[in-house]
Amino acid sequence: MKIDRVSALEREYAMQSLDGQFRSAGNYGFGIRLEREFAAKMGVRHAVAMVNGTATLHAALEAAGVRAGDEVIVPPLTMSSTAIAVLHANAVPVFADVRPDTFLIDADDAERRVTARTKAIIPVALFGLMPDMDAIMGVAGRHGLAVIEDDAQCFLGSHRGRLAGTIGHMSSFSFQASKHMTSGEGGMVTTDDDGLALKLRRYSGLGYGSIGLGKARITKDDIQDPGCERHVVLGWNYRMPDIACAVACAQLERLDELCACRRLAGEAIAGAAKAAVWLVPQRVPPECGHAWWSAVFALDRDDVAWRDFRRKFMELGGDGIYAAWQLTYLEPAFREMNLLGREEWAKRAGARWERGLCPVAERLQPRLLQFKTNYWDTERAERQADILAKTIAFFA
Ligand SMILES: Cc1ncc(COP(=O)(O)O)c(C=O)c1O
Repeated sequence: MKIDRVSALEREYAMQSLDGQFRSAGNYGFGIRLEREFAAKMGVRHAVAMVNGTATLHAALEAAGVRAGDEVIVPPLTMSSTAIAVLHANAVPVFADVRPDTFLIDADDAERRVTARTKAIIPVALFGLMPDMDAIMGVAGRHGLAVIEDDAQCFLGSHRGRLAGTIGHMSSFSFQASKHMTSGEGGMVTTDDDGLALKLRRYSGLGYGSIGLGKARITKDDIQDPGCERHVVLGWNYRMPDIACAVACAQLERLDELCACRRLAGEAIAGAAKAAVWLVPQRVPPECGHAWWSAVFALDRDDVAWRDFRRKFMELGGDGIYAAWQLTYLEPAFREMNLLGREEWAKRAGARWERGLCPVAERLQPRLLQFKTNYWDTERAERQADILAKTIAFFA
């Protein structure tokens, strides 16, 4: 399979957007179209576009009613935006450990960390694999928590036949450059709940009262009047620009082929890794469809150093291997609580962000080998898989 990541369609839509000449805030109208088509693709009632997949999480937390001092359960093994967004909402991220086989949030450990202040949980579909959503929804139901899926890395992944983005109360996607579909930057929140959708729109749109579930209802006479009142609630300017929406519209039309290409790459790399029992893959439960944002393995050999494995792979022509992100609570901003005043909430909640908090994730993170799957020519991915096979043979 060989495709262009950016095709003639993205160029055509971007030009149409520019032809809108920025005559109005909505310009060519790609924002409305993207939201409508994204919701249809996922099979949900609402999709709300925003500037990126961190803003989406923040807006979703605000819409869920998370307020200063509340607690939100997140995994520590993820890109740190998951927890950063919680801090943006002045709430406290509470880290729940991950499962050693799927590398994803452990619902049992999450439940152990629920307190009277817990308001929400953010399960992350890390590397393109959805966590055990039955268990997560069970915990949420028992404790009255909002579930916000972080599906930044999981387009068209599934759990028991349901698409990522359709199970939690809200779900967040990112269109950043490394994601399955991209507009450089951008993001989307999906939900089936009309009330949440309205809040998402208002909070991400500076709290404008004119924002409803559909098109803005304000007239020229209203907006030009000196008595015009605009803001009915605090909001943020998280609007996704029309030109980015135009590119995303094209990517959305091509989402199946973009995802198929990554899946072929992920499967080729996973196939090569099977030759080594000491490369332990992220376990894909039979009820899950993996979206293959990356192909990830735990290096289970004491006599082979992570850096030596990567060096050899690259010496043999490999493109590189990424480590998993540092655990969020061990990042200096968290460990040292450089949180621009928000550390007060964390301290009041008794948060201690140091080693020992999530032992499974701490053992796993330094051993994870992450192979990229964004090859738009499957032959290139297969060459990487061959190089992985040679690297494995070298260390056999
Ligand atoms: C799991 C996860 N959550 C959130 C984000 C944040 O998305 P963005 O970079 O669009 O803000 C990303 C990606 O970058 C991510 O991988």
